[in-house]
Amino acid sequence: MYFIANWKMYGDLKSLNSMKKVIRFSKINIKKKFKIVYCPPYTLLDSFSKKINKTKIELGAQNCHFELYNGPYTGSISPTMIKKIGCKYVIIGHSENRLEGENDNLINKKIKSCSKCNLNIIFCIGESLSEKKKNMTRKVLKTQLLKGLSKIRFLNKILIAYEPVWSIGTGVIPKIKDLEKDIIFIKNILKNNFKIKNPKVLYGGSVNDKNVKNLASISSIDGFLVGGASQKAKKFIDIVKKTIN
Ligand code: 13P
Repeated sequence: MYFIANWKMYGDLKSLNSMKKVIRFSKINIKKKFKIVYCPPYTLLDSFSKKINKTKIELGAQNCHFELYNGPYTGSISPTMIKKIGCKYVIIGHSENRLEGENDNLINKKIKSCSKCNLNIIFCIGESLSEKKKNMTRKVLKTQLLKGLSKIRFLNKILIAYEPVWSIGTGVIPKIKDLEKDIIFIKNILKNNFKIKNPKVLYGGSVNDKNVKNLASISSIDGFLVGGASQKAKKFIDIVKKTIN
């Protein structure tokens, strides 16, 4: 199981203190089969990397540029740069970035260069509320997958994060039955269209310590991408505990 903390645009150097608890928790549970990945803002990547050095916790960035190395791209950071600073993961295609103008074509370019760089890619897909109301969920998910993963050669390092846009930050989660079917739908596309033998699909959107047990009852779920509830160490640890115990 993957537990990925997406801190979004929150956190400062002080917030790193809360990592002590998470590090302690991961040491006690070193033998259990789960992965914890933290994706703090870029400004904290270096300090985070030092803090979690030699622990079971891994580091990810929240986005990056499509240019693999360097270039005249003010305000951007490349896959090689985040890799060099200690990231093993990167989130690509988050709906909050799509809302700011990232389209499937740009996301595909980013996935291409991140996979060249051997980063694990947390590729986010999900339908909006109006698309859900129009019964377009599956069409949207399929299009995002086909376009985002088009002509990607190395697909073994892709994790899909299914995050319905209407569920992010709203406290509303999908019906368990619907989610189960949608995850299987996603896995079938990955198997049939991309020949990925053992696809991994995570869920994201209002995951918390209260609803995670229910969500984790879905056997095809491979983990969670957690926003708000990942900013408090105790809450995040509770999410992990309730899933693995
Ligand atoms: P929330 O857990 O705050 O709903 O955010 C989910 C998310 O966007 C994670 O990437």
